[in-house]
Amino acid sequence: MVVTILVVSAVKPQDFRTCAQTSFCRRNRAYADKATSGSFISPYNVIKDTINIEDGIISGELINTENRVLFIFEIHILINNSVRIRINEKNPLKPRYDRVKYWSLIQEPSNTLEYTENSINGKDMFTSLSFGIDRNHKVIIYHTPFHIELLINDVPIITFNNRGFFNFEHLRKKDDPVNKPELVIQPDINAEEAEIQTEEEKEEKQEEGLWEETFNGKIDSKPNGPESIGLDISFPGFGHVYGIPEHTTTLSLKETRGGDGGYNDPYRLYNLDVFEYDLDSPTALYGSIPFMLAHRKGASAAILWLNAAETWIDIVKSKDDKSFLGFGKATPSTHTHWFSESGIIDVFAFLGPTTSDIFEQYGSLTGFTALPQSFAIGYHQCRWNYLNQRDVAEVDAGFDENDIPYDVIWLDIEHTDGKKYFTWDKTKFSDPEKMQKDIGRKGRKMVTIVDPHVKRDDNYYIYKEAKDLDILIKDKDGKAFDGWCWPGSSVYPDWTNPKAQDWFVKKFAFDQYEGSTEYLFIWNDMNEPAVFSGPEITAPKDLIHYEGWEHRNLHNLFGMAFHAATSQGLINRTNPNHRPFVLSRSFFVGSQRFGPIWTGDNFAKWDHLAASSPMLLTIGISGIPFSGADVGGFFGNPEPELLVRWYQTGAFQPFFRGHAHIDTKRREPWLFGEPYTSYIRDAIRQRYILLPFWYTLFQEASTNGMPIIRPMFVVFPDNEETFAMEDQYFVGNSLLVKPITSQGQTSTEVYFAGKDIYYDYYTFKKVQGSGKVRVDVLMNKIPVFLRGGSIIPRRQRFRRSSLAMYSDPFTLIVALNKKGEATGTLYLDDGKSYEYQKGHYIYRKFNFTSGKFTSTSLNNDQVQNDENNYIRSNKFIKIERIIILGIDKLPKKIIGYYNDLIDDKKELEFKISKDIVIIRNPKLLISNDWTIEFVN
Ligand SMILES: *[C@@H]1O[C@H](CO)[C@@H](O)[C@H](O)[C@H]1NC(C)=O
Ligand SMILES: *[C@@H]1O[C@H](CO)[C@@H](O)[C@H](O)[C@H]1NC(C)=O
Ligand SMILES: *[C@@H]1O[C@H](CO)[C@@H](O)[C@H](O)[C@H]1NC(C)=O
Repeated sequence: MVVTILVVSAVKPQDFRTCAQTSFCRRNRAYADKATSGSFISPYNVIKDTINIEDGIISGELINTENRVLFIFEIHILINNSVRIRINEKNPLKPRYDRVKYWSLIQEPSNTLEYTENSINGKDMFTSLSFGIDRNHKVIIYHTPFHIELLINDVPIITFNNRGFFNFEHLRKKDDPVNKPELVIQPDINAEEAEIQTEEEKEEKQEEGLWEETFNGKIDSKPNGPESIGLDISFPGFGHVYGIPEHTTTLSLKETRGGDGGYNDPYRLYNLDVFEYDLDSPTALYGSIPFMLAHRKGASAAILWLNAAETWIDIVKSKDDKSFLGFGKATPSTHTHWFSESGIIDVFAFLGPTTSDIFEQYGSLTGFTALPQSFAIGYHQCRWNYLNQRDVAEVDAGFDENDIPYDVIWLDIEHTDGKKYFTWDKTKFSDPEKMQKDIGRKGRKMVTIVDPHVKRDDNYYIYKEAKDLDILIKDKDGKAFDGWCWPGSSVYPDWTNPKAQDWFVKKFAFDQYEGSTEYLFIWNDMNEPAVFSGPEITAPKDLIHYEGWEHRNLHNLFGMAFHAATSQGLINRTNPNHRPFVLSRSFFVGSQRFGPIWTGDNFAKWDHLAASSPMLLTIGISGIPFSGADVGGFFGNPEPELLVRWYQTGAFQPFFRGHAHIDTKRREPWLFGEPYTSYIRDAIRQRYILLPFWYTLFQEASTNGMPIIRPMFVVFPDNEETFAMEDQYFVGNSLLVKPITSQGQTSTEVYFAGKDIYYDYYTFKKVQGSGKVRVDVLMNKIPVFLRGGSIIPRRQRFRRSSLAMYSDPFTLIVALNKKGEATGTLYLDDGKSYEYQKGHYIYRKFNFTSGKFTSTSLNNDQVQNDENNYIRSNKFIKIERIIILGIDKLPKKIIGYYNDLIDDKKELEFKISKDIVIIRNPKLLISNDWTIEFVN
C-alpha cells in the first residue's frame, strides 16, 4: 500500500496564539496593570473568624469584596521546608479540576508538626506561624487584603499576592447579570482605536472571548465561560530565576513585559507541536513544567504551580526594592505573575536553603528520575526513516566497519503499515523478529515509534478495541473526536482514563505486539497531542475526557499520561520486570518517572546547537535530568564541522541521539570521510569511556534529584559571576564542559570558578590561571576539564556496544585538589532489572586523602558479597589502571591491600611522569574494600 506522507507546511508564528490573542491572558495582564496603578487595593480579604490551624494546616475563607464570592484557602506546612497553598471556590457552580496531583505527585505530601503559632499580637491583621526544627521559618498570612509571606530568619523569601494580582474567576452562568466578571481595560487596543469606541462597544470588546473564542477560524466553545486563576509570586532579593521549560530562552530567565532585551509576551506553557521553532522566544513548545527556581548568594527557593491548563508567566525585575524588610541596601528582586486558564490554585514553595535541598524536596514530591537501563545512556542512531530491513542491517554494519560504538537503532513512522502503530510494513520489514535478534546479538537494541493517535480503520485491531472499550476522547457533542494526524483521520484514546491505561499496558505484551522482542523499546512522539486539523495544531480545548473533564483542564499532562502507559507496558511485558525505555516529546511535572524527553524538531544550525545547552540545563533543574537534543539538528543538512561539534557536545549531554528529517541527506557518522569520521568516532568513544561515570550520576539523580548536567550556579552557588552562565556547564560536579558552537573557532574563553585546580580532561595538564582563561580549541574535541578533588571511573576498552563492556575492567582517574585530596563514587548493577531495589548492586566510595586511597562500600542495603546477585556474577571485575593527577610528593613505593587481608600487602608497579602517577594493573577487584598507600 502506498502511504501518503502528509507534508505539513512550515508552521509560521501566526499558527500560535500570542497573549493578545488569548482572552484570559489579556484579562490577567490587564488586571495586573490595574493593580499596579495608583489606588488599587486587592479586593480579596480573609474572613478572620474562619481561620483555623490544625495538624500543620492553616485554613480559612476569603471573600472577594467586589462580588461577595467566597473562597477556601489552605496553607499546608509540609515536612522538608516546603509549603503548599491551595485556593478554590467555596461553592463553585460545578467542581473545578483538581486531578493534576493524581498525575504529578507520587504521594500526598505530609504536613509537619514542627511548628508554633506566633503570639496573638496583631492577630486581627495577620496570622503567623513559625516552623522548621529551629522555628526559623515563618509564614505570615495578612488578612486585608489577603497576601502571604514566607520568611527565613525574618527575611522574606517568597511572597504571594503582595502586588495584588490574585484573580480568581469564579464559575458563573452566562446570563447572570450579577455575576458579570470585573471589567478590565484592554491592554492591546491602541489608543486611537480605543477613542472612537462608544462605551457599549468598549464593554463588548472587553468581554470578547469570555464565552467563546476563535483563533484562525477555529472556535473554542467555552461552555464554562471565564474560569482563569492568577497570582503574583515575588522573590525579594533574588536577581535570577530559572526553570519553567520548555522554551528556547536563556538559562537565567528574561523579563517579559518589554524593556531592555525583554520579551513582550509572557512565557507560555502549552504543549504544542511547533514545527521549525524559533530561538530566543517565550513561546510554548512540546513540554511544560511550571517549576521555577530563584537563586541568590546564600539562598535558593522554588515554586511549583501545579496546574495543567494553559499557563502564562510574566517576569519583571526591580533593581531597588525598598518595600521588603531585611535589605538595607539596594537589592534586585524578581516579581512573577502566573495565570492559568482553569483549575484551582495549588502552589508548592520549596525553601531549600540550597539548590540540592530543593531538588530533593521537589523530587520527593513528584518522583525522582527513573534509573534507566544502562544501554539508554549509550549512543542512539535514529533517522526518519531507516527504509527497510536491509537498510537497518547496513547501518548497523557501518558502525562495526568504522569502529564506532552504538547501542540503539531507531525506526520512525514509516516502519508501520499505514501509520498503524504496533504493525509493520511487511514489504519493508518482512521479519522484524529476526531483524531485532540480529541487532540484539551484538548487545544492541531497537526502538520503534508509537504515537497517541489511532488510525480510524475498522480493520485495525487497536482502533476496534479502543472504540469497543469506549475510551476515546469525545468532542463537545459527545462523538468520538476525529482529528487529522500522520495516518489521516484518527481518534485519540483518552490516556487519562484508567481503563485506557490498563488496556494500553497490555498492548506491549510480546504476544500482542506482533514482531516485538525483548530487544525492542519505544518512542512516543506527537503526544502534545499533535492534531494537524486542530487549533494551534493540537486538540480543541472543549473536547471531553474521562469523568467529563474538558481537555482545557489537563492539556499539559495529556502527553505524560500516554508516556506513563507506554512505560508501564514495557515494564509489564517481562517477568521478572525489566526497566522500560520510552522517549517522549511531550512532558509535564512527573515525566522523569517514565523516561527521557528530547527537545523536538530543532535545526541543523549553529545557533540551535548553542541553544541545546541552556534548554537541557533548564529541563534538568526542573526535575527531568534525562534529556537531549537531536544531534546534527532535525531539519536541514549540517555541514561536517557542525555535525562534528554537535557530536562532541551531545556526548556530554544526558540523552545522546542522532536524528534527521526524512528530507535531509543521509548523515550516518562515517558518510563525511576523514577527518570527520575520526572526530565523530572519538566523540562517541568518549561517551562510552565515561559510561560508568554517567551511570553513577543517573543512579544519584534517581535518589536525590540532582541534575546530571548542572548549571554553573548550582556548582558555585556563591559566585555571582556564574549565575547567568549557560555556555559552559558541569557533568556531575567533576567535569567542566565548554561546547564549541560557532564555525571555525580556534580558541574560546572558559571560566574556571573557585580556587580549584582544573586539569585538561584529555592531556591531564593543569590549567594555568583561574577566572576567565582563553584556551585553544582544536577540531578533534571540545574543551573539557576535570575539577581537582574528583575521582572518575572509566572503562577504556573499545567495544561495539555498552553491553559488550559489561565485564570490562576499570580505570580510575584521581584528580587531586590543592590539599592533595579527591573523592568519587561508582555505581554498578545489572543495568536492566529491578534487582537493584533489593540491594543487588555495587556502590563504591573512593577517597584519596593524605597519600592513602581507599575504596569502601556505600551499599546501605547490606546485601554484601555472595548474597548480592550482582556481585556474585561480577566479582572478578578488575581495576586495570589508576591515574593520579597533581601529586606534589612523589611516592618511593606504593602498596595495596584488601582491607580484610591487611597482612597481604603487595607492592604495586607504577610510573611517574611529571606530577602524574600511573599505577598499572594494581590487581584489585572493583567489588572489594581496598587501600592503596603512597610511601614517600
Ligand atoms: C524530609 O523529612 C523527613 C522527616 O523529617 C526526613 O526523614 C527526610 O530525610 C527528609 N527528606 C528530605 C528530602 O529532606
Ligand atoms: C502491570 O504489572 C503490575 C505489577 O506486576 C500489576 O499490578 C498490574 O496490574 C499490571 N498492569 C496491567 C495493566 O496488566
Ligand atoms: C576521606 O577520608 C578522610 C580520612 O579518613 C576523611 O576525613 C574524609 O571525610 C573522607 N572524605 C569523604 C568525602 O568521605
